[in-house]
Amino acid sequence: MSVSDIELLQRKLERERAARKQAEQLLEQKSRELFQRNEALREEVQRRELTEAALAAKADDLARSNGELQQFAYVASHDLQAPLRNIVSFSRILTERYAGALDAEGQEFLGFVREGAMSMHGLINDLLDLSRVETRGGQFVQCDLNRVLDDAMEVLELELEPARARVEYSGLPSLQADPLQLQKLFENLISNAVKFQTAGQQPVVRITARMEAHECRIEVLDNGIGIEARHLDQIFVIFRRLHTVDEYPGTGIGLAICRKIIDRHGGRIWVDSEPGRGSRFHIALPATRPEVGLTA
Ligand SMILES: Nc1ncnc2c1ncn2[C@@H]1O[C@H](COP(=O)(O)OP(=O)(O)OP(=O)(O)O)[C@@H](O)[C@H]1O
Ligand SMILES: [Mg+2]
Repeated sequence: MSVSDIELLQRKLERERAARKQAEQLLEQKSRELFQRNEALREEVQRRELTEAALAAKADDLARSNGELQQFAYVASHDLQAPLRNIVSFSRILTERYAGALDAEGQEFLGFVREGAMSMHGLINDLLDLSRVETRGGQFVQCDLNRVLDDAMEVLELELEPARARVEYSGLPSLQADPLQLQKLFENLISNAVKFQTAGQQPVVRITARMEAHECRIEVLDNGIGIEARHLDQIFVIFRRLHTVDEYPGTGIGLAICRKIIDRHGGRIWVDSEPGRGSRFHIALPATRPEVGLTA
């Protein structure tokens, strides 16, 4: 090997050494970057775990306080019924036995006592219905919506007759649900459709339903007074009413019961409307049993 060959080899070796060093430095830099990214990722995972734990704790709190509130509503409503029964019974006895001992004004006052007690009785019953949606729910079985509506119409007969209301439905599908709760839902929606009407107009309510993918989509359409856009979400909140009791009677619990029933079925309820153009209530229900909330 000549001297120039050796020099050539040495230069090649040096170049290779320099290239290796550069590669090693690059590797070190990449490793550092990877380490930093790993650290950031670990911190992010930790942060998320903490947030998830906090969320789970909040959900537990919420479920507990919901349960307590439900229990309170049930006990309060239930225990209020006994004294109320006394007020109703004794004011009836007073009216029957002692009416002669009272002047016209006294009898009028007694009438107010009975009316007040009766309306409180209605309110308490509605509150009990609301608190029982979760605690006294029935089994989910295959329900023919036509039959559910026939049963609802039987209950509503006395209410619908004076209004000459026309309620139309036919050929509706079947789905898995709690039939008594579905009936209660339709009773509330049809009763509202007939109640919130322009005076003198014949109420017409049309109920349609169709299966769509895994959902049953139900619509309850009326030709009533309609609802302003800004109130569309609020009406499902308990005691939320858009009119005075003198304009349209009611306590504002009906739609809260509907929403609770739909929640228990794992579905959704909402409404489209415009003042003076009627309302269309939409319901989407899973066609088969939901995973949760099957029994009481
Ligand atoms: N079909 C409808 N057309 C127009 N407004 C409606 C209709 N349904 C409900 N609303 C409005 O939503 C409010 C809440 O309805 P919800 O059924 O909860 O109460 P309510 O009928 O007043 O009382 P309750 O049902 O307890 O007797 C009603 O007071 C009314 O203002
Ligand atoms: Mg109502």
